[in-house]
Amino acid sequence: MKKTILTLSAIAFLAVSCNNNPSTTSDEQSASSANTEASVDNAGTDENDGADITINAGDDMKYDLSEIRVKEGEKVTITLRHTGKLAKEAMGHNFVLLAQGTSIADFTAKAIQASTSDYIPAGDNAVLAHTKLVGGGESDTIEFTAPAKGTYDFICSFPGHAAMMNGKFIVE
Ligand code: CU
Repeated sequence: MKKTILTLSAIAFLAVSCNNNPSTTSDEQSASSANTEASVDNAGTDENDGADITINAGDDMKYDLSEIRVKEGEKVTITLRHTGKLAKEAMGHNFVLLAQGTSIADFTAKAIQASTSDYIPAGDNAVLAHTKLVGGGESDTIEFTAPAKGTYDFICSFPGHAAMMNGKFIVE
């Protein structure tokens, strides 16, 4: 027991001795304390730092959420998780937030043509935010700022999915 304490003391002494070299370690010391502060700051603000939402969807072609509520202007983080096993070519899912006034039928008719871009029509103003298309076991996370107050539709734009995979995105 006594021997252990002595050994620890020796290690502590060596550590202190190393840090006492003034010319080479002062930069490293200030750099490491700056890093510590940065990570503490992040940890301290995470709790009130916007809305963090996870949506699951599996091989049964369903989202596990039919409604998402956020606050106007806040940072929204959405993670889409594909909990199934099927490949994205057969049972791909995405999350597409549509501008108000968008006809889901019209949009999906365009989206079905966009197989090379994850069924997201290029440059379409109707798309406010979207994840990539994911297959079984995959996930994707996106961040965006909540739009103006109101109710928006979100859908999966994979061909044939929007009829089952849709919900309301409500900004309060
Ligand atoms: Cu889908």
